[in-house]
Amino acid sequence: TGMVTLDPGYTNTGSTTSAITYIDGDAGILRYRGYPIEQLAESSSFLEVSYLLIYGELPTAEQLDAWVSRISRHTLLHEDLKRFFDGFPRDAHPMPVLSSAVSALSTFYQDSLDPFVAEQVELSTVRLLAKLPTIAAYSHRKTMGQPLLYPDNSLGLVENFLRMSFGFPVEPYEIDPKLVKALDLLLILHADHEQNCSTSTVRLVGSAHANLFVSVAAGINALFGPLHGGANEAVLQMLGGIRDSGGDIATFVRRVKDKEPGVKLMGFGHRVYKNYDPRAAIVKRTADSILADLGGDDQLLDLAKQLEEVALSDDYFIERKLYPNVDFYTGLIYKAMGFPSRMFTVLFALGRLPGWIAQWREMINDPATKIGRPRQVYTGHGERAFVPVGER
Ligand code: CMC
Repeated sequence: TGMVTLDPGYTNTGSTTSAITYIDGDAGILRYRGYPIEQLAESSSFLEVSYLLIYGELPTAEQLDAWVSRISRHTLLHEDLKRFFDGFPRDAHPMPVLSSAVSALSTFYQDSLDPFVAEQVELSTVRLLAKLPTIAAYSHRKTMGQPLLYPDNSLGLVENFLRMSFGFPVEPYEIDPKLVKALDLLLILHADHEQNCSTSTVRLVGSAHANLFVSVAAGINALFGPLHGGANEAVLQMLGGIRDSGGDIATFVRRVKDKEPGVKLMGFGHRVYKNYDPRAAIVKRTADSILADLGGDDQLLDLAKQLEEVALSDDYFIERKLYPNVDFYTGLIYKAMGFPSRMFTVLFALGRLPGWIAQWREMINDPATKIGRPRQVYTGHGERAFVPVGER
């Protein structure tokens, strides 16, 4: 079997070719299917970007209409799946609830289990895009102890999600167009990021020919981790902690630089970006206006900005090329939108879904795909003889 090359964390091992997302980490460039993230953020919509990622081209007006209306017809959850939410403790974190419900989709749609039947993959794609916002809203309502609202298919995907998250039965829900626009923008920024931890997980699980639902559920679980999507929740905890201890940024930064166990500047650093994360740049540019519109927490925003300024002029961060990543400012916006911090990573998952789907489909359709199976360098005992329990 030859020599095995060790590469912990795969810092320099390519696992696949891909035509979906391009990142130049030194220059801070991100493009989906060739289109700069800045242009998509400015002019596109989340479902249009989803189409682009999955099918490779921007849709025509007709294709976009058909796509949006097809997705809007699949937003309902099976009534039995709805009851699923009752089984979790009230204070359950919504991320494992989300991944469990997505796994469970494959029990309700058993026509989805063959990854090589194109029409089934197509249907699973639409079902996932349509149902994840419903599942996400329900996981929020569950923690709040509030009634689950049926989707209203006359609404767009983001409007529908906001209504299911914050509306009440019978009462009309006033949809704030600024909130819709802000959330749509954040979903676009999260929609794909090539071979990150959760996406690589989706591909690895799928490489065993597991179906799209369970592969995506595995990706959601990877995203839950605080070094990955969980960072947006951790940033707010960090900012709250600094504020509660008197707002002393210098002391906090010192603790980070001293590498006190468990103390990191959350929302900073990236495996690929050794420059300002272009997504964070867009979030930062829009944070002020979004927070002014929504009435955000100015104290925490100020604290975040000061923290960034201090870090960016400090040798520790300069030498290591640590810049704010996409998670640094997003939590403040989600909070202003009314989401509890436990929902932040769920919002990341909603955004990342089209990327996971596009990457899984690319993997399944690529004749070069083999089952993912890394090697190891064994460091355990050499052969030794078994000792019966009475003689140990
Ligand atoms: N605070 C303090 N020091 C850091 C940080 C940070 N946030 N990130 C990296 N470093 C240091 C690290 O200690 C190491 O120092 P040294 O060379 O002295 O040992 C050096 O910078 C290189 O870091 P690394 O850990 O080898 O880098 P990595 O590519 O393995 O890790 C990372 C990337 C994103 C996991 C890491 O930067 C991190 O933990 N950041 C905080 C969590 C976070 O914000 N995650 C979100 C990532 S972006 C979007 C997403 O996926 O959700």
